[in-house]
Amino acid sequence: MAQNKTGNIAEKALGHDDQNRAATTDISNPARDGGKYADPSGERMKALVWMGKNDVRVLEVPKPRIIDSHDVIVKVTGSTVCGSDVHLMHGVILQTEKGDILGHEFCGVVESVGPAVTKLSPGDRVVNSFCISCGECRYCKEKLPTACEKTNASKLHVKLYGGRLSGIFGYSHFVGGYAGRQAEFVRVPLADNNLMKLPDSVPDEKGLYLSDVLPTSYHAVNHTGVKEGDNVAIWGLGPISFMACYWAKKRGAKRVIGIDNNWRTEYAKAKIPGVETINFELLKGDETVPTKIHEMVPGGVDISIDATGGEYGKGFVHKMELATGMEQDTSEMVNEAIYATRKFGRVGIIADYVGFTNHFNIGALMELGITLVGCGQSPKELLEMVESGEVDPTIKVTHRIRIDDIDKGYKLQEKRAQGWVKCFVEMRFSAKRAEGTPELVRL
Ligand SMILES: NC(=O)c1ccc[n+]([C@@H]2O[C@H](COP(=O)([O-])OP(=O)(O)OC[C@H]3O[C@@H](n4cnc5c(N)ncnc54)[C@H](O)[C@@H]3O)[C@@H](O)[C@H]2O)c1
Ligand SMILES: [Zn+2]
Ligand SMILES: [Zn+2]
Repeated sequence: MAQNKTGNIAEKALGHDDQNRAATTDISNPARDGGKYADPSGERMKALVWMGKNDVRVLEVPKPRIIDSHDVIVKVTGSTVCGSDVHLMHGVILQTEKGDILGHEFCGVVESVGPAVTKLSPGDRVVNSFCISCGECRYCKEKLPTACEKTNASKLHVKLYGGRLSGIFGYSHFVGGYAGRQAEFVRVPLADNNLMKLPDSVPDEKGLYLSDVLPTSYHAVNHTGVKEGDNVAIWGLGPISFMACYWAKKRGAKRVIGIDNNWRTEYAKAKIPGVETINFELLKGDETVPTKIHEMVPGGVDISIDATGGEYGKGFVHKMELATGMEQDTSEMVNEAIYATRKFGRVGIIADYVGFTNHFNIGALMELGITLVGCGQSPKELLEMVESGEVDPTIKVTHRIRIDDIDKGYKLQEKRAQGWVKCFVEMRFSAKRAEGTPELVRL
């Protein structure tokens, strides 16, 4: 939390970058300046708003309006909660401000379009990419939209990382300060480039997950180079890691080992044939996750993927260092992954990490010839696989809740509550529930 506040102060000192932007940034809630950013009708909508550390609330806020000529306004028909939102709730993401609307995954129906929009019309069903990209800069041309140079004005980002990520919806002013998608209406900038039309054959309950969880998990497996016959270990069995296990198996990996410390290990085994798991709470005596992996796969796995989260300290030292601000992210999972990987194997990080870490075993990395792969934010689109039925995104969807209850959904996601993996958030404009998907529950 302290680091979030410090981030806001640092950004002010650096002078927010107004140059070279393809979209108007930092409208994280139309209420920030109702006269400029709210729909002139005065209509209001429900949205999930960050009010401070561990305080997210469903509030009535103004409906957004078109600001730039390439914007569209979308009526949201489905949203969800991501493990990344929990990091925001905890206040560990830099430059989160009171009043920011959160959420980066949604599908919906286009309501109105700006004059420069050419590919979309009112009535189109769409799903968003969680990032906002311009489509024209060097990285966009290389099909790396999450590295877009023109949609994020945070100077702190450049100062801390040497380069800048694209804007991301509902994910703090560190990545553009765009209003999030856990809301009944959303403004989508550069809409031709950032919305994908959904065919009628793909219901919202499947299309929604093209926003993030499907492409992110696919990217983790793809970017670390998992191939047929590989042995793979994946840390975490939340939605991202669960689907990464699924993709690794689908690619023909020989053994896929998912690691977590709760009921999700059993869920993964039940849902993904052939996946093996380690529940690290149940390890005995001197056993550790890496020793267990070496016992299962002598010599270590070919590829390890970390899909946990840098704020989740495991041992006392890191918990203490995280709590006191001596480090921003733990190195424990990445160190475990290095130990568990065979010589000259690869370790990928898809989990969110924000800054500096202590006690990283750089020696093991160097001496064993491990390649450490930062996966970045995911760029892939997988509509065809969903449309053809080759992949069923509902495999990890356990709940359907209403926008009114989404704050409670955050708490269940945080706790990894029994039975909870990923939700579908029903909105005022949602279509009838697709058959075979979870029934609505009130929390
Ligand atoms: N790079 C991207 O594009 C991208 C996109 C989406 C999510 N993410 C990140 O991926 C991570 C996972 O997201 P999610 O939605 O699955 O979140 P989640 O919080 O539901 O799942 C994380 C899982 O990791 C487990 N875990 C925690 N510490 C562990 C440890 N030491 N060893 C093994 N398992 C441990 C937890 O019990 C939990 O089940 C988050 O950090 C999220 O921010 C990244
Ligand atoms: Zn996400
Ligand atoms: Zn770009």
